[in-house]
Amino acid sequence: MSKKIILSGMRPTGKLHIGHMSVLENWVRLQDEYQCYFMAADWHALTTSYDATADIKDNIYEMMIDFMAAGLDPERSVLFVQSQVKAHAELHLLFSMMTPLSWLERCPTYKDQMVQLKEQGKDINTYGFLGYPLLQAADILIYGASAVPVGEDQLPHLEMTREVARRFNHLYESKVFPEPKALLSEQTALLPGIDGRKMSKSYGNEIAISATPEEIWEKVRMMVTDPQRIRKNDPGHPEVCVVYKYQQIYNREESDGIADVCRKGEMGCFDCKKRLAAVLDGFLAPVRDRRAQLAGKPETVRDVLEDGRIRAMTKAEETMEQVREAMQI
Ligand code: TRP
Ligand code: SF4
Repeated sequence: MSKKIILSGMRPTGKLHIGHMSVLENWVRLQDEYQCYFMAADWHALTTSYDATADIKDNIYEMMIDFMAAGLDPERSVLFVQSQVKAHAELHLLFSMMTPLSWLERCPTYKDQMVQLKEQGKDINTYGFLGYPLLQAADILIYGASAVPVGEDQLPHLEMTREVARRFNHLYESKVFPEPKALLSEQTALLPGIDGRKMSKSYGNEIAISATPEEIWEKVRMMVTDPQRIRKNDPGHPEVCVVYKYQQIYNREESDGIADVCRKGEMGCFDCKKRLAAVLDGFLAPVRDRRAQLAGKPETVRDVLEDGRIRAMTKAEETMEQVREAMQI
């Protein structure tokens, strides 16, 4: 029996941050059970940043190093770049012919993101942005994926992917596409940035996976704590403190004790932050070491992506043969 297939992807935003680690750890585990395809979704990046393309290649490179440093294994999994497998574009085009416009207009992420980006001064009233969920459907269905590990925000896209698969199979009386299910990863993705807002490189509130001990301390030092706590012995409120959120995730065993001494005013924020920085460093050190080994070897990354391109393309072409046959084109 051949293994079930998984596909997932991330936009290449450059070096990943600690908030991405839980997603990557989940992907790493899935490699044991599934044939996995993991891609840099560079065409997706264009749907919202078509006017800022100068860094895309570097961003792909840095992200792929993070992927491998976190434990994605190019021997087992196919690591590739979306735009290097042109068949995604062909399938996207064919899907665009048969998908009712209303499906796309109704997609909840469409209006939400449009409003959000408008606030940031970006105009994404484009054809490509509207069709983005279909590109995602093509990414997934072209590999015959039966499961897609995603965050909650991507669920509407996955639902649309299933609808597109059903519609295609029905229209062309075929069984080309299985309907993929979502594998919801548990959400440490909700890890806030050091200022308490959503973690994002654009806010500068992130902790990079590749951060050195000094960089980790610099970020932890700046973390927002309980604003009512002025002196070391003031009773604290861990529930409003960003440092404490991190303690709960990365220092679970000690976190109850920390909350306790914080409330009693028996521990200062400086000491609390020192402890957190040490724990985070312990967590990131092995990834950082593997990353450093890879960063000096651009040819290794290039070879991995070339091998990934060939393996992805081979599978994608197989599917496209079936698609063309079913459509009689
Ligand atoms: N849309 C996803 C995001 O912005 C990235 C993505 C593109 C993706 N294609 C995919 C995720 C296919 C899962 C499956 O995060
Ligand atoms: Fe936050 Fe720790 Fe300070 Fe309490 S002691 S407010 S948990 S940083």
